[in-house]
Amino acid sequence: MTTIERTAEPAVRGGWRTPAALYRLISSPALRAVLGWDLPRHDVRVITRKPGAVCLEVGSGGGFYTRALKAHLGEGSTLIALDPSARGTRSLEQDLRTLPGADTVCVTGDGCRLPLADDTADTLFYGYSLEEMPDPIGAIREAHRVLAPGGELVLFLWRPVMNRHRRRPVIDLLETLFERDRSAVGPQNLRLVYRKPVEEICAQDELHACPLCTVS
Ligand SMILES: C[S@@+](CC[C@H](N)C(=O)[O-])C[C@H]1O[C@@H](n2cnc3c(N)ncnc32)[C@H](O)[C@@H]1O
Repeated sequence: MTTIERTAEPAVRGGWRTPAALYRLISSPALRAVLGWDLPRHDVRVITRKPGAVCLEVGSGGGFYTRALKAHLGEGSTLIALDPSARGTRSLEQDLRTLPGADTVCVTGDGCRLPLADDTADTLFYGYSLEEMPDPIGAIREAHRVLAPGGELVLFLWRPVMNRHRRRPVIDLLETLFERDRSAVGPQNLRLVYRKPVEEICAQDELHACPLCTVS
């Protein structure tokens, strides 16, 4: 069973953070279709469905992807939606209550200090949230800590914000800690799917040349 540590207010400081008052606006399907070619029901299909799986969405905001994830994962699975805004997570929990699909819990928290024990999540999903974290490198290390061996890490990155320069150290670390499964480069975004190796990767392994680092 997954134990979730609920924190009253997370220690999130510095960096740009989408104000909770804008969550409704940024969850507008029309705006998102124009800005990022985002189609939530289609996009979440990249996530592997497994009965009884635990999926953590880090940076759920107004729930643009959470609703689609809940339906996609289906009954018998657990979806944890985490965001630093207490107001946002409370209102999202209300909205999701009546929707069919995975059991869902919304928690106020910080992607750099995930409220899960080591090796407990089957899937981690970041929909344009890593960009806003004060320490994206620390957040990737946290992802590695909580993801179960063989688990899936899915990241959508918005290229105008997560430009090549900002992305490079993040991608380098991802390529060191995880095995890349799939990636897609869109006009505005990058969609990445990694797997946590079942066997630990030797820290001395050389980084392989990464084509994603060269996408501008
Ligand atoms: C651009 S919004 C995307 C929200 C949502 N995933 C979507 O696609 O509409 C970025 C989200 O990252 C969240 N965020 C910022 N810093 C965070 C942190 N340290 N930990 C977790 N989420 C964070 C923000 O609160 C916001 O909800």
